Amino acid sequence: MQVRPAEDDDWGQIWSFLGVVLAAGETYTSPRDITSDQARAEWLAPPPSRTFVAVDGERVVGLAKLRPNLPGAGDHVANAGFVVDPACAGRGVGRRLAEEILARARSMGYAAMQFNAVVETNVHAVALWQALGFRIVGTVPGAFRHPRHGRVGLHVMHREL
Ligand SMILES: CC(C)(COP(=O)(O)OP(=O)(O)OC[C@H]1O[C@@H](n2cnc3c(N)ncnc32)[C@H](O)[C@@H]1OP(=O)(O)O)[C@@H](O)C(=O)NCCC(=O)NCCS
Repeated sequence: MQVRPAEDDDWGQIWSFLGVVLAAGETYTSPRDITSDQARAEWLAPPPSRTFVAVDGERVVGLAKLRPNLPGAGDHVANAGFVVDPACAGRGVGRRLAEEILARARSMGYAAMQFNAVVETNVHAVALWQALGFRIVGTVPGAFRHPRHGRVGLHVMHREL
């Protein structure tokens, strides 16, 4: 598996699994009926946002977006989003992709990384981020309407780089 900057031609493969994950509505706050064009604007956003893909040969198996968490005086803290093709979940793609993005964020000069909205029922993601050094700074109660669990909390997670 390799991690490289995303290219426009990757979008078809990205959307084939990103659309499924966003429509499920269990892990991101995007509208569940988000269109391909809307998602593309968000996930292939122009600089200072940067998008990377994990590829296995020609196949895109994961996606990561890295950007400043806030503008101006907050832009030394990075924010990132990750999605792995569900067909490849649980095989270490997410861990390797996140390790690579952490290294890239560090080399780009970011001082820390913050996740603003980790759904508390997303236990594999929470455990992965904790294993990678993130801690839960706090949890906003009931801030996410989960399609199966109802209102659940959103963790703010943070680590220094
Ligand atoms: C969260 C996500 C990025 C993890 O990617 P992944 O490739 O499945 O994760 P990995 O295979 O690297 O596994 C990470 C850890 O979670 C565990 N894990 C992941 N999926 C699992 C599953 N279905 N069952 C049991 N454990 C699982 C692994 O054991 C692993 O722990 P370890 O490294 O200590 O062994 C991926 O599941 C995903 O894209 N989910 C939907 C979108 C999302 O939730 N993004 C994050 C929002 S904060």
